[in-house]
Amino acid sequence: MACYISLVFLLGFPAMYSGSHTLQFYVTISSAAYPGLPQYSIIAYVDDVQYGRYNSDTRRCEPLIQSLMVFSEHLENQTKLAQQTEITQKAFMNLITDLLNKNYDINYVFQTKAACVLHEDGTVDVYKEVALDGKELIVFDKERQEFVPATQEAVLLAQLLNKQANAMEDKIFMENECTQHLTLYLPYIKNYLDKKVPRVKLSSSESESGTKLHCRVYGFYPRDVEVKWIKNGRDEIHSEEAAQILPNPDGTYQIRVSVGVTPEEGATYSCHIDHSSLEKTLVVPFETETKNSHITYILIAVGVIVLFLAFGLGFFIQRKMKGFKGSQQRVSTNEQETTQQENIL
Ligand SMILES: *[C@@H]1O[C@H](CO)[C@@H](O)[C@H](O)[C@H]1NC(C)=O
Repeated sequence: MACYISLVFLLGFPAMYSGSHTLQFYVTISSAAYPGLPQYSIIAYVDDVQYGRYNSDTRRCEPLIQSLMVFSEHLENQTKLAQQTEITQKAFMNLITDLLNKNYDINYVFQTKAACVLHEDGTVDVYKEVALDGKELIVFDKERQEFVPATQEAVLLAQLLNKQANAMEDKIFMENECTQHLTLYLPYIKNYLDKKVPRVKLSSSESESGTKLHCRVYGFYPRDVEVKWIKNGRDEIHSEEAAQILPNPDGTYQIRVSVGVTPEEGATYSCHIDHSSLEKTLVVPFETETKNSHITYILIAVGVIVLFLAFGLGFFIQRKMKGFKGSQQRVSTNEQETTQQENIL
């Protein structure tokens, strides 16, 4: 369910971390019931930490963060509120379905996204929007204090909503209760909200399609991160696979960015990571020649020994011969030998 919602609302709110905080509710109503998929669900976030949920199967508000269990009475109240909201919002969905002349045989998914943002200076912003099958239908305009249609077919619906004075009620809820909850939860979720520096692990793999470099970045918070592979310190290598940021159970995130490369003489590769916990871009170079460089060192060592032996032998022969004419000849032969050795290297 959570995955579905994030797919539909890919364009979420701008991330607000430093100083300001956001409480968001995502409500999903499906016009038809399917086994295993609750018809109605609420997922609640503080910033991008999912802290609570409710659905039409459990009919309970469940905290997803252990430390919030201290608010048992508050949660009971929230459960009652959510049960009432489930009824009114299902009715609201039926109204929309009628108003838009939708065929009841088809399954529609309605989503409501509501949020309050508490800024550092104490001011509050509120957002609310309703979407049908992933498309925006109506949005709450906080300047005009009313719902505005996002599409032509939602004009009537917006008018109706504004007549019902829902707009004002929503605004009052979002500005008061929503921010109260946010202030209540924040100290208990703080652990999850502190910035965590990403850790990085690079690896490579070989397949029929060639060499792949992987940059795994993990243990970071908040979620927003930029990870890319750079060739020769300047050219970005585009990844053919879309990398997804995945949540970890401890509230941190991870991502793996992989690129295909054709091995090239002298080319260098590095993974560049930008994250709000870092003062500047973290650059981790990929050591391509680890194995080869070992062999190079061995070859150089062998070469040096051979050279010493060759010179030693030459010197020995030279001394044995004790003739100056002959020795001239010898030295040039030795020089030829060393050149050959270098070619082998
Ligand atoms: C829960 O609701 C009751 C009745 O409305 C109210 O008296 C009480 O203060 C609420 N408790 C909390 C913690 O919100």
